Amino acid sequence: EKGTYPHYMLKEIDEQPAVLRKIIQAYQNEDGELHVDRETLDAINGADRIYIIAAGTSYHAGLVGKEYFEKFAGVPTEVHISSEFGYHMPLLSDKPLFVFISQSGETADSRQVLVRIKELGHPSLTVTNVAGSTLSRESDHTVLLHAGPEIAVASTKAYTAQIAVLGILAALASEAKGKTIGFDLIQELGIAANAAQTMVDRKEEMEGLSFDFLELSRNAFFIGRGLDYHVSLEGALKLKEISYIQAEGFAGGELKHGTIALIEEGTPVFALATQEAVSPNIRGNVKEVGARGAKSCIISMEGIQEEGDRIVIPAVHPMLAPLVSVIPLQLISYYAALHRGCDVDKPRNLAKSVTVE
Ligand code: M6R
Repeated sequence: EKGTYPHYMLKEIDEQPAVLRKIIQAYQNEDGELHVDRETLDAINGADRIYIIAAGTSYHAGLVGKEYFEKFAGVPTEVHISSEFGYHMPLLSDKPLFVFISQSGETADSRQVLVRIKELGHPSLTVTNVAGSTLSRESDHTVLLHAGPEIAVASTKAYTAQIAVLGILAALASEAKGKTIGFDLIQELGIAANAAQTMVDRKEEMEGLSFDFLELSRNAFFIGRGLDYHVSLEGALKLKEISYIQAEGFAGGELKHGTIALIEEGTPVFALATQEAVSPNIRGNVKEVGARGAKSCIISMEGIQEEGDRIVIPAVHPMLAPLVSVIPLQLISYYAALHRGCDVDKPRNLAKSVTVE
């Protein structure tokens, strides 16, 4: 039920802080430590390489998940678009683990990959929001998102839930290997949940920015580096699928290799700058596009913000920044679609779960 909300999408954006808190609870044992069932952990620890398989927004969450598995646990991880993997299987490692990420658990392209890797005898783990979904039933292990039903076609709370759950799995894998991730994940996820609350409460401001940057635009660009690059892909997908504004997300360093040719007077560029190490580079990119007339909206974080940044998210652990920085992008897309009179929850040509290949 969407209750007093005009759209499910807005309700689901709003639910993100609560979902993060629910996840923290769901994956904690009575001693307050992170926990997941033994078999799932053994499956992760038994792998010499993780293959994440997903589509759309879930693929974008997988890109963030790769950083966690590699940085926290030291497990080499590849992320594949399911439809590509289904038809062009890469060379596999000796002991692969396949991690399927799917809100619905029904995506046909991902199911097809599961069928193939099962024929080859490889282990599988599904990270899904729907217990009892096909991917969950057919894979060896399941980890749930606890995001509650997601009704809007545009995925929002499932994305943040996927990132949080992948972070927890990677931290547990790290612990099992006798390593440390260097910070208290439970505490930092709590801080991220509070920061997410701050951002969902800034709707009016995001509506204003959406109006300023997108009212008259036919296109928009999203740039970032590192984790911010992954979030830029998600920001672009959100905007295009519900507002039909042509949007592209890409790595800031790629601008000069082609895309900068598209920058004209007034072209909107959303630039994510939450990662200190690469923030100067992304700010350099903003100057480059600015010199060609672009209108840039920098999304930075408290502590590394600079004058003129249009959106500054509260300080969170940099590895968890995607949980928070995506929220203004979700809201800006929502309002862009709303202002254009689009059917926000049911965009044209799209279905909530894509059950055909
Ligand atoms: O249910 P899934 O997570 O497997 O769905 C994957 C994509 O179809 C889905 O994320 C799609 O890209 C959304 N409409 C994005 O908002």
